[in-house]
Amino acid sequence: MKLMKKNILSSFVFLFSIFTFSQGNTHKSESGKYENQALTPPMGWNSWNTFETKIDENLVRETADIMVASGMKDAGYTYIVLDDGWMTRERDKNGNLVPDPVKFPSGMKALIDYVHSKGLKFGLYNCAGTKTCAGYPGTRGYEYQDARFYADLNIDFLKYDWCNTEGINAKEAYTTMSNALKTAGKPIVFSLCEWGDNDPWKWGKPIGNLWRISGDIYPCFNCEFKHPENWSSWGFMKIAEMRKDIRKFSGPDHWNDFDMLEVGNGMTVAEDRSHFTMWSMLASPLIAGNDFRKMSKETLAILTNKELIEINQDKLGIQGFKYSEENGLQIWVKPLSDGNWAITFLNISDISRKINFDWKANPIKDTDFNMEINFATKTYKIKDLWKNKDAGSTKKTFTAELPSHDVITLKLTQ
Ligand code: GLA
Repeated sequence: MKLMKKNILSSFVFLFSIFTFSQGNTHKSESGKYENQALTPPMGWNSWNTFETKIDENLVRETADIMVASGMKDAGYTYIVLDDGWMTRERDKNGNLVPDPVKFPSGMKALIDYVHSKGLKFGLYNCAGTKTCAGYPGTRGYEYQDARFYADLNIDFLKYDWCNTEGINAKEAYTTMSNALKTAGKPIVFSLCEWGDNDPWKWGKPIGNLWRISGDIYPCFNCEFKHPENWSSWGFMKIAEMRKDIRKFSGPDHWNDFDMLEVGNGMTVAEDRSHFTMWSMLASPLIAGNDFRKMSKETLAILTNKELIEINQDKLGIQGFKYSEENGLQIWVKPLSDGNWAITFLNISDISRKINFDWKANPIKDTDFNMEINFATKTYKIKDLWKNKDAGSTKKTFTAELPSHDVITLKLTQ
């Protein structure tokens, strides 16, 4: 009895102390990502692919202006993300990050307010390591302080990289930053840029809204670009085919990120079209990486192709898969909502290829998501999305000539 009394008393003291502690503690740590920030793959622009660290406030303002005036905003592009190089080389004496006053003389807050005033969203970059990849202050050891800094700036998106992380556990490092962002209290899309080294698709879902699955992209079809410091960047088709069996890990609010777009950065128009198509078929984030101020009509037309964007943004959020490959002619398939499907023919060979696709002889099965089409029992209407015209139905064999490195994308509707 005595013991019971003592237990009751100590439980009371314990509950009382929890109560008083939580009342007084305004920095209660929260965990878990901000949910529902990216129900479809995020769309926007990032400075890195074209400008690397040569960024400044004029570039951001002009990019935001063009994003609106060119129709890109209407097409769905929302985020303007400053990548590496926005800070000074050292933190201030209180350990705070400092936006570079030479590159951003009006201050980062004013710039972010400007971007917001255009109805757009704003993102910044940092790194889980001690320094960013370009040698600016990393967040290691400053997670909660940096998260508060971002919340005060009112940013909407954080890309969090993986340089200078020797000896750090990836899942733990990204969890710490995710919790810090949650605790800071401002909803922010958390973009894990861990290059797929530690299978982030297996643990990233409760932590972040998207995760890179590869090293950096390079503006070529399927080359490997070897950097002198002993690392490689990859042509878009290398990235598209780099990982097997990860599509089941991608979906609304937790996307496999195939890296930022290189559309408009030096490939042929056919290759740019194929690149944009593949990113749409793969439900990858669509983050443009070109200089909007010098954008050609062709580049803008590719980036704003409404029907391809609809394939990318389809609310089912299923990543497409490679159905077949023969003589360099690949066929990719993506199940869509309302029982529709997207089919892409892609010619990876160096010569033109003839397509002769007899639908009835090719039933399609998506074993990861348990869906199928049997063209012998069901007929679909076909629309050619790049030509923007009807292309008959699946009753008839589909025939076409497909130039090297080009695509034909068809939408099948019931
Ligand atoms: C890494 C990332 C890139 C870019 C650079 C910046 O390479 O993968 O996307 O952010 O760092 O230094």
